[in-house]
Amino acid sequence: MVTAVLDGLGVAVPDRIVTNDDFAARLDTTDEWIRERTGIAQRRMAAPSVATSDLAAEAARAACKQAGNDSPSAVVVATTTPDHPMPGVAPLVAAQLGWDAVPAFDVQAACSGFIYALASATGLIASGVTDRVLVVGADLMSRITNQDDRATAVLFGDGAGAVTLRAGEPDEFGAIGPFDLGSDGEHVGHLVVEAGGTRAPGPAPDAPERYLSMNGRDVYRHAVRRMTDSSTQLLERAGLTIGDIDRFVAHQANLRILMAVADHLGIPDERRVSNVDRYGNTSAASIPLALADAALRPGERILLTAFGSGFTWGSTLLTWPDLSTAPDATTHV
Ligand code: UT7
Repeated sequence: MVTAVLDGLGVAVPDRIVTNDDFAARLDTTDEWIRERTGIAQRRMAAPSVATSDLAAEAARAACKQAGNDSPSAVVVATTTPDHPMPGVAPLVAAQLGWDAVPAFDVQAACSGFIYALASATGLIASGVTDRVLVVGADLMSRITNQDDRATAVLFGDGAGAVTLRAGEPDEFGAIGPFDLGSDGEHVGHLVVEAGGTRAPGPAPDAPERYLSMNGRDVYRHAVRRMTDSSTQLLERAGLTIGDIDRFVAHQANLRILMAVADHLGIPDERRVSNVDRYGNTSAASIPLALADAALRPGERILLTAFGSGFTWGSTLLTWPDLSTAPDATTHV
């Protein structure tokens, strides 16, 4: 059986750091509240001249460099914050890389986007459409977050992460899968950008409806339940137990959420990966950013799980490849 095998990882984050104290200086909030409720200490914010495709292309270049292979491949970009309503970001990334006439499309599954993009790319490879795919998760969440709303502004950040995938065998280091994916659109109102689409087009540039609004407590509750259930179903499908999992990389939205999911699953502390303190919630970029920071060892079996607006959720397994001879994966924009 042919499946997707990861052979490169790269991330790109903006240089500008926004600390909790930066928010506390102008909003009714404190460093203590933000750390206690979310685990976040700082996040990155892109300069106005930078668009999502710019950060995505930087991460993609770093991933190709690590793979030692920058030959053109299909491009799948997970993002909720595209440069334009039309076209998607993927063709723009392909163009920035100088790749001509490659398949390129976006996946919109909010904070679960990276898992959905991995599943799409794995399908492209397994069905023989292509034998190499670049998968990018990139979001400039600061662009859709009202920076004057303390309930949401402190939670989100900007970033991008990319992986290169090639055709390979399920028992190789780097192999990805199987997948568990799901959605429930009944809860759209709990985490939504109300205007700018076909239901409510054309908001004024500074209208509140053009920013994301969130019912934090309900999102929290659903996130814990769905990531726990999805992870459990995935393990059943794979014929594994939690004892087979070496590292746990959940979508980095809130430290309390990922600790609750890990507690429900029975994952020991030392196997949990978190860097939400440094980046906040970077939506589709959060899983590759966490992978880049996790100091993973070749052969470790990693459980990935995510949850986001929609609601959407998804989980998969990844056996970490041997990337130890590769250059540093992080670039700054
Ligand atoms: O990828 C999915 C994306 N989103 C998420 O995963 C977010 C999920 N939700 C959460 O992470 C949490 O619900 C939050 C971090 C958003 C909030 O934490 P919480 O413990 O659920 O707090 P809460 O919503 O119950 O709010 C407690 C209080 C409220 O005041 P009142 O109504 O009790 O007087 C809020 O107005 O905290 C207030 N509050 C703040 N206070 C200081 C909300 N934001 C802030 C803030 N600083 N930044």
